[in-house]
Amino acid sequence: MKLFAVLGDPIAHSLSPLMHNFVYRQNAIEAIYARARVADGKRLREVFETLGLSGANITVPHKESAFELCDEVRGIAARLGAVNTWVKEGDRIAGYNTDAEGFAASIAPLNGVKSALVLGAGGAARSIALALIESGADTAVVNRSAARLEFFKPLGARVFDWQNLPRERFDLVVNSTSAGLKEDDLPLEKEALKAYLTGAKTAYDAIYGRQTPFLRLALECGAAVKDGEDMLAFQGAIAHTLFFGGGDRAKIAETMKTALRLPASWRQSPPREG
Ligand SMILES: NC(=O)c1ccc[n+]([C@@H]2O[C@H](COP(=O)([O-])OP(=O)(O)OC[C@H]3O[C@@H](n4cnc5c(N)ncnc54)[C@H](OP(=O)(O)O)[C@@H]3O)[C@@H](O)[C@H]2O)c1
Repeated sequence: MKLFAVLGDPIAHSLSPLMHNFVYRQNAIEAIYARARVADGKRLREVFETLGLSGANITVPHKESAFELCDEVRGIAARLGAVNTWVKEGDRIAGYNTDAEGFAASIAPLNGVKSALVLGAGGAARSIALALIESGADTAVVNRSAARLEFFKPLGARVFDWQNLPRERFDLVVNSTSAGLKEDDLPLEKEALKAYLTGAKTAYDAIYGRQTPFLRLALECGAAVKDGEDMLAFQGAIAHTLFFGGGDRAKIAETMKTALRLPASWRQSPPREG
């Protein structure tokens, strides 16, 4: 029986155990996916090894520590400086980042975004902006504070703080801030945001599971809207294929989305057959 887990702090809210365990159950895979709160990022590897994990997802605030503490960083994670998936290979740990690819897979149905405005400059914004740049989109990043914008310049993004906003229109406007996650905040001053949303084809919110003020405003402005559920499911599905050395990503993502819609009773204690 293989054991996997999501590691972070806080961790109680994480939907990864629900998504992964549902895929195991639906596909008769002998594995368990747990969650563990790790307060100190320096202890990630010790926790991983003590629990005897075959793989893990690492979430806020430890993605940079996960990058530092694995033996080999693979793929886009090297450019992001952040790792969210560890896979045990013998005595070594390989590190990947499935957020950027998860976002890219989630916007594939939009059929080629030519220009994009990314709101926010945290971990999610890094993955999203890099996925957009790699897909060839002209990408601008806007953040409340200037310091975190530096990361995006060498990637090829144009960067702006709130005192110096871009004046053009964008096909896609992405909220990758945490504004709207709990409170009813917008990620940008309302009139400026309205102007971008009125000119956009699609508004995308990385937040999932609730209609955010950002998406409500986008609907008022006539944009098509999309939340972060597909991104969440695809990053999980990609992690699954890394854990098990293959699999149909799209099919696994669909199963994970089904899990997200299960009744609340499932989230605490999945009912067992027999
Ligand atoms: N769907 C998915 O799979 C997925 C994956 C990852 C993350 N997410 C979501 O993405 C969001 C960001 O996550 P993260 O890990 O990037 O967080 P993070 O690293 O803490 O970054 C937060 C960002 O939000 C900005 N921000 C926070 N409050 C704001 C406000 N009231 N107005 C404007 N900007 C504000 C911050 O600006 P400053 O720099 O100025 O503080 C920063 O740029 C979260 O809501 C998370 O749930 C979704």
